[in-house]
Amino acid sequence: MTNQRTATLTIDGQTTEFPIMSGTVGPDVVDIRSMYGKTGMFTYDTGYLSTASCKSSITYIDGDKGELWYRGYPIEQLAENCDFLDTCYLLKNGELPNAAQKEEYLTSIKKHTLLHEQLAKFYQGFRRDAHPMAIMAGVVGALSAFYHDGMDISDQAHRDVSINRLIAKMPTIVAMAYKYSVGQPFMYPRNDLDYASNFMYMMFATPCEEYKPNPVLAKALDRIFILHADHEQNASTSTVRLAGSSGANPYAVIAAGIACLWGPAHGGANEACLQMLEEIGDVSRVPEYIKRAKDKNDSFKLMGFGHRVYKNFDPRAKLMRQTCYEVLTELGLENDRLFKLAMELERIALEDEYFIEKKLYPNVDFYSGIVQKALGIPTSMFTCIFALARTIGWITQWNEMITDSEYKIGRPRQLYVGPARRDVKPVEQR
Ligand SMILES: CC(C)(COP(=O)(O)OP(=O)(O)OC[C@H]1O[C@@H](n2cnc3c(N)ncnc32)[C@H](O)[C@@H]1OP(=O)(O)O)[C@@H](O)C(=O)NCCC(=O)NCCS
Repeated sequence: MTNQRTATLTIDGQTTEFPIMSGTVGPDVVDIRSMYGKTGMFTYDTGYLSTASCKSSITYIDGDKGELWYRGYPIEQLAENCDFLDTCYLLKNGELPNAAQKEEYLTSIKKHTLLHEQLAKFYQGFRRDAHPMAIMAGVVGALSAFYHDGMDISDQAHRDVSINRLIAKMPTIVAMAYKYSVGQPFMYPRNDLDYASNFMYMMFATPCEEYKPNPVLAKALDRIFILHADHEQNASTSTVRLAGSSGANPYAVIAAGIACLWGPAHGGANEACLQMLEEIGDVSRVPEYIKRAKDKNDSFKLMGFGHRVYKNFDPRAKLMRQTCYEVLTELGLENDRLFKLAMELERIALEDEYFIEKKLYPNVDFYSGIVQKALGIPTSMFTCIFALARTIGWITQWNEMITDSEYKIGRPRQLYVGPARRDVKPVEQR
């Protein structure tokens, strides 16, 4: 970082200088931390459109180039050469594990896959038709009741155990939410299986018959986990940082991230994409819907197209597209009605002037919804899968914040536009 360059701000003829900071890559930032002290003014930036809320060395996105890196490694290379637990290790520790480190990491994760039996009983308190994200927010938040006393977040060893616990237990928590909703018995984790296969086992096995996770499908699921593991300072990650900045219990903090992710503008898009495909229903109706998406007077948008950050192809979408083909071929679903419809939509949108001009490409949610449906995951569980995968990103960002020497409780300012000072009148005069 260099502070040599400065930015000059002139307010009412009064000039103040602010240092400019540079990261490894990406836009420079103007350091305005001293602005209120020097000028008596705040900045106004709803939605953080121009505000960097922290320094981070975890994830980098270049939306114009369509690049996503975890700790400097392009997502394409990680998806091709690593599995999800390699990715977790990388995000958390900054480097990929060697063989011995991986072995040790797997052992430490597998130590924590079981849920406390008392916690498993929590599920009975929910209605069977409760949204699984509501159950997840409740159960993950409740972990804080089990691991609070004696937990010292200033101690790295304590933080490491919490991080491993979360990564290990999240598949168990998600699968139990599903099993509860369909009224089937919980399946306990099997530590002889890899991370994704164990999750599939807990989701789809029953005590009545043998279940062998299909390796092609497990690999597809593992890829979904890798692609969703982190995405720098998005809404849920910023929620986690803000909630955690008060020194709150990390499990409660992750529950806050889950609550934020649940919103349709964030984690709910692949669910919306599948609902749209169902609504379109048939290939013959694709032109009609493309026309509606382009009509300024129609609020309909093509779900799964466009992205706030990626104005080039979403690099995750390319990888998910490949996985989508692999899964549908493995399952013999190439001629599936919804898949054919999705491919026709993709073909037309990629050729259409409107979508080309506005740089609207299919995003990762477009393909991941189709893959998850093919895997047998119900639509209402899609955001839970996203939460499972994003947990490592959330907790790594939390860990980075706690260890940052510049870390402070998050406390934004405001522009007050309410009534000016006034006096309370006696009730008979109001
Ligand atoms: C993701 C999204 C919110 C990004 O929005 P954004 O960065 O604010 O982009 P804008 O809404 O400014 O879009 C630019 C233009 O493209 C149009 N547009 C954007 N996404 C579109 C879509 N999916 N279908 C049709 N038109 C779309 C907008 O209407 C706008 O048109 P205008 O220039 O005539 O006003 C938006 O593309 C969207 O709603 N996509 C569908 C939902 C989705 O898949 N979300 C998942 C995100 S991971």
